[in-house]
Amino acid sequence: EKVILAYSGGLDTTAIIPWLKENYDYDVVCCCINVGQGNELDGLEERAKLSGAEKLYVMNVVDEFCDEYVVPCVQANAVYENAYLLGTSMARPLIAKILVDVARKEGAVAICHGATGKGNDQVRFELGIKALAPDLKIIAPWRCNETWGMSSREEEIAYCKAHGIDLPFSADNSYSRDRNLWHISHEGLELEDPAQKPNYDHLLVLGVTPEKAPEEGEHISISFEKGVPVALNGVKMKVSEIITKLNELGGKNGVGIIDIVENRVVGMKSRGVYETPGGTILMAAHQQLEELVLDRDMMAFKKIIGEKFSDLVYEGKWFTPLRESLQAFIEKSQEYVTGETKMKLYKGNIIKEGTTAPYSLYNESIASFTTGDLYDHHDAEGFINLFGLSLKVRAMKKAEVEK
Ligand code: ARG
Ligand code: SIN
Repeated sequence: EKVILAYSGGLDTTAIIPWLKENYDYDVVCCCINVGQGNELDGLEERAKLSGAEKLYVMNVVDEFCDEYVVPCVQANAVYENAYLLGTSMARPLIAKILVDVARKEGAVAICHGATGKGNDQVRFELGIKALAPDLKIIAPWRCNETWGMSSREEEIAYCKAHGIDLPFSADNSYSRDRNLWHISHEGLELEDPAQKPNYDHLLVLGVTPEKAPEEGEHISISFEKGVPVALNGVKMKVSEIITKLNELGGKNGVGIIDIVENRVVGMKSRGVYETPGGTILMAAHQQLEELVLDRDMMAFKKIIGEKFSDLVYEGKWFTPLRESLQAFIEKSQEYVTGETKMKLYKGNIIKEGTTAPYSLYNESIASFTTGDLYDHHDAEGFINLFGLSLKVRAMKKAEVEK
């Protein structure tokens, strides 16, 4: 019988290979899912084989990740607890889906992941798997206290060595990180004490702090069609290419570094630093365009939908009728979100430099202080009389009764 292991090539998931063989007698098929984590993929095949895996799948789903998972989140302006752009959260359901696909292809009976028992990721992986393949067994070694029993890198290295796996793992404890094309997360070390400031020199991977960003900054423009980013600086590109390029420009200019204490699904608060340079720019550009195109009611209601959408994504409830329904609403709302946004990236800031949109609802002759006959000042008086009628009636009644 076979098990599919969500494999990153790191120490944790490598140690799981001999552990699975020892405790379950399964053949281990490793599956590494490329969602844009970059150089982490080097030398993976030999590593998996040397560790006793029967086979390694490397699945490149970067474009599917961008088009099917990132774009809906951009359109929803999805932000968790006012700060976190959901980078890890939005990748987990896709990873679950690919694991299930590979499990079917291999006729596997189980899926194994290396998320801990304290986090959100276990919830996201497992809700995804349950939704798509309710028959598959799920194995989470980190929750198997009796058999796993490893709690440090040193112990994992020793376990690997004892099982004939002699790979060059560094013993140094770094941050717990998760990277994909949208972001990189950092947790652990000094971040576990919310009173401490992050050690940015040691921590940052995708860019620099605003202090170290260049004085001249960078002017850019992003174009959207129906809420989908389609071009950067006037050049048509795939969404994945736009994000790649924006990561570079945003990182260089200190954009998109977030430090928050968030509420995990499992009840605890946890502190994380996130680098989302390209994502932060893309979200800002999208909102800049929506300002011109969406009417007042739509803006207000869409914000509520977006909040709920964000919570669902954070909680791993991707494969649900509610997420699909909210997404259908959001997609419809994007019908006229077409146009170009210009901005300057400058020392951690995104400074607006103008927006154009063919369906812009902004009407200069109405809005201008000086001109226009579409708007008659006198109409405002009657409007305010009716708009304020209930307030006035209440005040009159109060005065009458309390007199
Ligand atoms: N706290 C973030 C979230 O829940 C990031 C999790 C990072 N995961 C990881 N395996 N390091 O989405
Ligand atoms: C983990 O615990 O595996 C990482 C953190 C999280 O999932 O929230």
